[in-house]
Amino acid sequence: MSAITDIAAVRAWLGEARRIAVLTGAGMSAESGVPTFRDAQTGLWAKFRPEELATEAAFRANPTRVWDWYASRRDLMKAVHPNAGHLALAQFQQRYPGRLTLITQNVDGLHQAAGSVDTLALHGNIGDDIWLDPCQGAPGRAGVCEVTRAQPGRPPACADCGNLLRPGVVWFGEMLPAVALAAAEDAAQTCDLMLVVGTSGAVWPAAGLAHTARHNGARVVVVNPEPSELDGVAHALLRATAASALPALLADEITDTR
Ligand code: APR
Repeated sequence: MSAITDIAAVRAWLGEARRIAVLTGAGMSAESGVPTFRDAQTGLWAKFRPEELATEAAFRANPTRVWDWYASRRDLMKAVHPNAGHLALAQFQQRYPGRLTLITQNVDGLHQAAGSVDTLALHGNIGDDIWLDPCQGAPGRAGVCEVTRAQPGRPPACADCGNLLRPGVVWFGEMLPAVALAAAEDAAQTCDLMLVVGTSGAVWPAAGLAHTARHNGARVVVVNPEPSELDGVAHALLRATAASALPALLADEITDTR
């Protein structure tokens, strides 16, 4: 049976759903001014080569280039704000505590800035710094790299062992944070409805969560102005943007017929 496109029907589904999971991608923040990754002209990967900027090997090969690239993205993200889509999700969570689990691939922190609680950030947070390697320590000093004592630089380095600070994001080829991933998989397995918003569905294991939701009997709704790799698992396809569709879907008076 082909996917429906009727927003009123999806609103009714939301009203019936006890447990809702939401999976978001870069498109969620596009209307806040954050570039996506794979949009043909404007996407980051249309301008930059991910293997040169978003892998551990690339960072080890040229730490300054990678650090500077993330520094420029951080600066951009400090200047942007949550859009109506982020706010609609946060407000729904406040109205119905525990009913909506928010899973994001985004590292921009905009869901959290909008007031969303317990956001499962599968790809980390660009605002965080983490140490590249375990600390080698120094003579007479325990092996603990301290950010407060880091030598300034691009990137900063441990004063004792020279270990480098790196952005707290998940790079290609790296494991996702185990606790967040397990909670996301649980939400996908137990939800009645999954909203998939602003993702191409090109990256796993995040994209697999929509398949898991469908296989476990949940309704899957894709919100994306363009075709995506997850259209095939959708019961509904809303060709709309995140900031226009989510407020319409999550407005209070239409979403509680349980
Ligand atoms: N509203 C909703 N969707 C939108 C909007 C919008 N305003 N603008 C663009 N989109 C859609 C695009 O059509 C595209 O399908 O958002 C999707 C963005 O896809 P990608 O750029 O591939 O981003 P994402 O799916 O989040 O990428 C997954 O890949 O590069 C890695 O780690 C990075 O988390 C990222 C992962």
